[in-house]
Amino acid sequence: MASLTGKTALVTGGSRGIGRAVALRLAGEGALVAVHYGDNAEAAGTTVARIEEAGGRAFAVRARFGEDGAVERLFEGLTAGLAGRGLDVLVNNAGISSAHAIRDVTPQEWERLLAVNVTAPFFVIQRALPLLNDGGRIINMGSTASRFAVSTQIGYTVTKAALESLAPSLANELGRRGITVNTVAPGAVRTDLTAGYTAIPEVVAGLEAVTALGRLGEPEDVADVVGFLAGPQGRWITGRTIDVSGGTYLGPLV
Ligand SMILES: NC(=O)c1ccc[n+]([C@@H]2O[C@H](COP(=O)([O-])OP(=O)(O)OC[C@H]3O[C@@H](n4cnc5c(N)ncnc54)[C@H](OP(=O)(O)O)[C@@H]3O)[C@@H](O)[C@H]2O)c1
Repeated sequence: MASLTGKTALVTGGSRGIGRAVALRLAGEGALVAVHYGDNAEAAGTTVARIEEAGGRAFAVRARFGEDGAVERLFEGLTAGLAGRGLDVLVNNAGISSAHAIRDVTPQEWERLLAVNVTAPFFVIQRALPLLNDGGRIINMGSTASRFAVSTQIGYTVTKAALESLAPSLANELGRRGITVNTVAPGAVRTDLTAGYTAIPEVVAGLEAVTALGRLGEPEDVADVVGFLAGPQGRWITGRTIDVSGGTYLGPLV
């Protein structure tokens, strides 16, 4: 039997990129998946269609993080789709990036980064607590950008470090219910978010040169780790950050 048969999952930002791969992975393991998105209804529909074509079950839910009432709208759609069932797996994946050094970060950009990458997942977790079944999973999408210097994305690095800081406290608070809380921290993965620099061969070559496994990540590389943490085999890992970067910046390669 698939490891998540009879379970439910919410994947924020499930319409594209890493979130889509995670949604497909969890649905492939048998979960009913709520595919959250902000703007791109077509992409969310494609994720749902691909899940259904593969024999799984999913529904799309729209809520634009950063807008007033977004978390409430998400949970209205989620609870309608779950039709009285609880939530077993929450993946806080939706996020935005930035491409500015500190001198160019405006207060507006800073507020938006915090709103989407930190405030939204924080209150999604708070709102999900009464719905979460014992033995559940919370998985937050961090980044290796909280581990090493990326001066041209400094606002983004702060938000990912803040998100990562949630796992230990929440793991202690929820552990007696068998709920695990972890952060998955990808390195560079080919998605729309990184299309700007992954289209530049010199940048890709530079990243490959500092990565032990010698290539950029694909969304499925991350989704497989989320799938592991979400399933029964992930039951004994909590409060931790799992680096999913193919060994990026481990030290000199030669
Ligand atoms: N790609 C990488 O190299 C990489 C590395 C480390 C960490 N990460 C993290 O992994 C996560 C996914 O990244 P990705 O590369 O897959 O990004 P992506 O391809 O740009 O997809 C972003 C997803 O987040 C949703 N989203 C963005 N802003 C939103 C908002 N304001 N309200 C609601 N939903 C919103 C998007 O929904 P719509 O489709 O509706 O726009 C989309 O589903 C992010 O948290 C990112 O920081 C990515």
